[in-house]
Amino acid sequence: MNDLAGKHFVLGLSGGIACYKAAELCRALIKEGATVQVVMTEAAEQFITPVTMQALSGRPVYGSQWDSREPNNMPHINLSREADAILVAPCSADFMAKLLHGRADELLSLMCLARPIDKVPLLLAPAMNREMWANPATQRNMMQIAADGAHILGVGSGFQACGETGDGRMLEPPELLEDIIAFFQPKRLAGKRVLVTAGPTFEAIDPVRGITNLSSGKMGFAIARAAREAGAEVTLVAGPVSLSTPRGVTRIDVKSAEDMLRATEPQAQSADVFVATAAVADWRPASASDHKIKKDGSGQTPQLAFTENPDILARVAQSQRAKSGALYCVGFAAESHDLVANAQAKRVRKAVPLLVGNIGPATFGADDNALLLVDEKGTREVPRASKLELARQLVAEIADRL
Ligand code: C5P
Repeated sequence: MNDLAGKHFVLGLSGGIACYKAAELCRALIKEGATVQVVMTEAAEQFITPVTMQALSGRPVYGSQWDSREPNNMPHINLSREADAILVAPCSADFMAKLLHGRADELLSLMCLARPIDKVPLLLAPAMNREMWANPATQRNMMQIAADGAHILGVGSGFQACGETGDGRMLEPPELLEDIIAFFQPKRLAGKRVLVTAGPTFEAIDPVRGITNLSSGKMGFAIARAAREAGAEVTLVAGPVSLSTPRGVTRIDVKSAEDMLRATEPQAQSADVFVATAAVADWRPASASDHKIKKDGSGQTPQLAFTENPDILARVAQSQRAKSGALYCVGFAAESHDLVANAQAKRVRKAVPLLVGNIGPATFGADDNALLLVDEKGTREVPRASKLELARQLVAEIADRL
């Protein structure tokens, strides 16, 4: 994906050991289609050289407000006017204190102060020792800087270079990248709560065996990510999959359809949107054995009887909240043929306002897909694209209908 195509960043490095992560972040931004101009404070140059950052960004690094390469000798004006955002990563405790006071005694802080505040967002990735982070002065500074219009990307938690463990690590480059991409997405679902089910379910036969299906969960995870990018508060109820949780999304892991129902129904009571992408097993073994079913050498096979699983989507769509219009339900249909007819019939059967059809065997496990949107007015095809791109389009469609 080229989620940052056409975007130009000023990547500012202030002093901190996390400067080594800025090198990878710079590459990640460029891989995502952005151009990057690096600006470093004197302290940052103690941790990583401008040579590294120049090589990775493909542009000479700026470090001084007196840099005479600029014809007007005003790098603080010129560099900030070209940028779609200034990203300070790592942002040290000292640099936050400078921003708070509007200090401008070196190029990076000067540039942050001189940026057109309505046009050039300032994104900060703090990085510091846990005591420095927890210090009331830092917390106070951060609140005020945010109130002044900066966007704080948050910190990670864990083992720190100083040997202590706690909050204050700079987020990892992939986490920062996901948050930066999200920052630029339109906030179509701001203030909304979105609930998504995703992945297969696993129906136990005995303690070591079960019935499941080929759903990878990728579409549902992409929808959860896209909804969060659009500003929603997102809960993702996930069957057994090995996907990482999208940033900022609350995940509840479940196994069976019954677990999924138990996790989903209470969440649906306060959700504004429910998107059921999970490939819930239609049936489960009528009684799971407590012990592993053994071969006894006689050649006899075990007899399995099945019970129908609850239809989570249909149940939620029948709830008072959905019927009153407070909860907008979206179903998915994975079909192997006759997509239009099957999807239309399923929309009516499940009593949902929007049903999304796709061809199961062509999408299970893949990173791309093609969708058919079916609502009361008719159908619309959404052409093949990455699941994240499709998820963003679906989120826009849902937001239009709320
Ligand atoms: O009936 P079918 O399984 O094809 O319906 C698919 C839609 O219903 C999907 O949105 C799926 O998540 C949902 N579903 C469910 N609980 C089930 C079966 C399907 O929520 N037991």
